[in-house]
Amino acid sequence: MPGFVIANWKLNKTKKEALEFIHGLQAQAPFKDTHVGVSPAFPYLETLTSALSGTQGISVYAQNVAFAEAGAYTGEVSAPMIKDVGANGVIVGHSERRHVFKENPDWMAQKISQALKQGLLVVYCVGETLKERDSNLGPEVVNRQLKEGLEGLEADLKALIKDKKLLVIAYEPVWAIGTGRNMEPIEAKEAAKAIKAKVGEILEGYIPPVLYGGSVNPKNIEGFSGHPEIDGVLVGGASLEMKSFLPLIRAFEKRIP
Ligand code: PGA
Repeated sequence: MPGFVIANWKLNKTKKEALEFIHGLQAQAPFKDTHVGVSPAFPYLETLTSALSGTQGISVYAQNVAFAEAGAYTGEVSAPMIKDVGANGVIVGHSERRHVFKENPDWMAQKISQALKQGLLVVYCVGETLKERDSNLGPEVVNRQLKEGLEGLEADLKALIKDKKLLVIAYEPVWAIGTGRNMEPIEAKEAAKAIKAKVGEILEGYIPPVLYGGSVNPKNIEGFSGHPEIDGVLVGGASLEMKSFLPLIRAFEKRIP
């Protein structure tokens, strides 16, 4: 399976910096069987989709999406708006949304539905906190999050996921995000296998690509890319500079014979 290497820029980069990065990335494209993605802040989605028009293999994802299509929801950005500016997908349920902004777990399925209705790829993030891990609750928490996001989807959206491969899961243990403390690749591999099995059960046979996220960098990338069960990485800190992002792409390109 081709690898995914997705940059999550969070609340970073000005328009100029985002464009400089994209031009640098374009100069390295095409990437051998690797889906490269960038997630800028909302105001720059269109800047990047325009800059990338005609470039193959680099996608643009929003960092979040509203649970409703339209209405009185100050500060939100809807899936139709994200689609309208040419983005390819959305990140849903990132741990910073869940924990810092206290997003309600009940919104996850609604957000995923909204994105799917627009044909956007969903990168659905799941992962346990340190406290949950220390109480051996990791797998239980992840299974619960998978069920919350996916179980209640309408049958036609479940069929759409299967048909168009519109769902990717990012497994990001909360304690590993932005801490410089990554999960051991062998453990991430086991988690990826379990997630595939669980999603396969919920979505009746759809086995999603599963990415690992949490303090991925050029030094530890080969540990993750070395396991075929791990289909890619979602990257924060190391995605901000080309010199630390490009080696991550190269590691996944190397997997392709
Ligand atoms: P990090 O962030 O690579 O800085 O740990 C990962 C993420 O939040 O997706």
